[in-house]
Amino acid sequence: MNLILLGPPGAGKGTQAHAICARFNIPQISTGDMLRAAIAAGSTLGKRVKSIMDAGELVSDSVILELVMERLSEPDCKGGFLFDGFPRTIPQAEALTSNGIVLDHVLEIDVSDEEVVRRITGRRIHEASGRVYHVVFNPPEVEGKDDETGDRLVQRVDDVEETVKERLKVYHDQTRPLVQYYRDSTVAFSKIHGTGSVQNITNNVLGALSH
Ligand code: AP5
Repeated sequence: MNLILLGPPGAGKGTQAHAICARFNIPQISTGDMLRAAIAAGSTLGKRVKSIMDAGELVSDSVILELVMERLSEPDCKGGFLFDGFPRTIPQAEALTSNGIVLDHVLEIDVSDEEVVRRITGRRIHEASGRVYHVVFNPPEVEGKDDETGDRLVQRVDDVEETVKERLKVYHDQTRPLVQYYRDSTVAFSKIHGTGSVQNITNNVLGALSH
């Protein structure tokens, strides 16, 4: 299973990715998580991309493609993988084809811009594990603390309202065209309504993948 999860910021890609990867026993390849790990490690790459990410803009295609191609060469990707947050531009998608990467299914999670703002501004994360919460929709057992470790939860720097609006603009301009790109391709494509309970959305995603 070589899969892509498409959708605006905050659509629930990361949330659904966990269930899909567990079901098919494939790794989640989240370019956002990889870039945040580089920033946390203080690497040269992290220093280069921090201000771009904090502003809600896209990191260059060449940097992203290098990261992704290196990740795909690791042994755990042999049996398939799930791209979460990649590709985000037409050139990124074209590079997959030109590198001989064959896809089985593209899933679009569709959520309105208003819902995106509500979700992202309330999101809190556990930095070490990447566990994701929401202050209203998916609160931790103890306010502000991770359920498993008790560590303090944090808000991503790019999760403030002004930056979320910029990320949405970037999504509509540069990433949304991928929906038509994949609809016009021979790869299986499913659009999933992304509002409702996490479990219902997971059921719909897994149902679409079983066809
Ligand atoms: P990235 O980390 O990929 O961010 P994103 O696409 O903006 O997506 P998010 O992680 O914000 O949202 P999500 O869809 O995973 O939602 P989640 O499940 O957390 O990218 C960050 C930055 O990195 C980019 O801006 C760019 O700079 C750079 N970058 C990354 N990849 C790149 C690429 N390929 N090219 C160039 N630059 C790149 O859910 C959101 C919230 O909603 C959570 O609080 C969750 O609990 C809640 N929630 C989830 N599902 C539901 C539900 N059904 N009902 C209610 N609440 C829900």
